[in-house]
Amino acid sequence: MARSKIAVYPGSFDPITNGHIDLIKRSLRIFDQVIVAIAVNPNKDDSLFSLEERLAMVREAVKGFGSRVRVDSFEGLLVNYAQQIGAQVIIRGLRAVSDFEYEFQMAMMNRELNTRLETLFMMTGGSYFYLSSRLVKEVVGLGGDVSGFVPKNVLKKLKAKFDE
Ligand code: PNS
Repeated sequence: MARSKIAVYPGSFDPITNGHIDLIKRSLRIFDQVIVAIAVNPNKDDSLFSLEERLAMVREAVKGFGSRVRVDSFEGLLVNYAQQIGAQVIIRGLRAVSDFEYEFQMAMMNRELNTRLETLFMMTGGSYFYLSSRLVKEVVGLGGDVSGFVPKNVLKKLKAKFDE
């Protein structure tokens, strides 16, 4: 029987945006299972949302995809986590050229650490080229409308967070 193709989609997801959702949806055309993995860095955490909040938001946002998408978190090296869960591929989204250097460095380092793990870059969907979690937070914080950029459940959480 063929081995199932598992990809890990790592990130901070603080919060998950429609750009991330688009990438997950397109990854499912290639992979049998996509594991959305929220990275935890206990030494440097300036996230707006706690890990628990992010896990809950991502789970809610991807529930329509069914059991082929799993949501998890990990601490430590991504390559170790990927090996643990049996993923053969790391998925990363590329927006503009500005993403390239950072992504290239990470991909090369990950390849040094584990030569059997491939990084697959997918171009972000056309309408999400300029979208980032950082900008979403900034715009909401300044009272702007981000309803077109994040899932409904995330929009609610963002509003509540900034009303706190
Ligand atoms: O959404 P982000 O912040 O761009 O995602 C970055 C992430 C989480 C993919 C990266 O920081 C990561 O892989 N962290 C886990 C620790 C690790 O393996 N570091 C070495 C990367 S070469």
